[in-house]
Amino acid sequence: MLKIGVLASGRGSNFQAVMDAIKDGRIKNAAIALLVTDKPDAYAIERARANAIPFVYLAPRDYPTKDAYFEKIARELAERGVGLVLLAGFMRIVRRPLLDAFPWKVMNIHPALLPSFPGLHGQRQAADYGVKISGCTVHFVDEGMDTGPIIIQAAVPVRHDDTEESLSERILEHEHRIYPEAVRLFAEGRLEVQGKKVVIKGFRSDEAALVNPPLENFYLS
Ligand code: GRF
Repeated sequence: MLKIGVLASGRGSNFQAVMDAIKDGRIKNAAIALLVTDKPDAYAIERARANAIPFVYLAPRDYPTKDAYFEKIARELAERGVGLVLLAGFMRIVRRPLLDAFPWKVMNIHPALLPSFPGLHGQRQAADYGVKISGCTVHFVDEGMDTGPIIIQAAVPVRHDDTEESLSERILEHEHRIYPEAVRLFAEGRLEVQGKKVVIKGFRSDEAALVNPPLENFYLS
């Protein structure tokens, strides 16, 4: 049984998506063992309560250094036998003590097609830039800002009149599909990090390409 620890600072809809996938059997042999939050009013706490998942609020200011804070988080997770850590809207850069305790066992979801638009407001950056396709990325976490090996991505067409809000809403739907899928692949032992690449055992590409705007009109006229 894979025990999962989740780190969240806010709404926790990705946390919910993973819980739902475990509940309905899409992810087998896994359970969420602990929610850690750095915000006492994070809505993710309500979700943990509603699903009888233990949670702990750890205030960063109670620790002398950032490393000490992440050492504490690592201890809490290790004590509960956690084998996979999910960042789900956790608004801090993870430090070495946590990464060393869970080598290539910390995942994050980012609302853009990395390596484009890392950092905060990935959706706003994409909408402002004028790209025609953005999306979301699940990746293993390294010390950088959204730089770790990529596990899975979903491409989402961008409209010329998209705002940060409208694009975020459409990307979020796909976040909720690909994060549980990445967890499932991990739980089934199918992910292997080789340098910057994640090799997925048993993967076959269907080679479908997303084109935005679509080509249909051109061929019809
Ligand atoms: C998501 O857009 C995620 O990609 C980003 O932070 C947001 C968290 O949303 N890292 P939620 O808390 O999971 O609802």
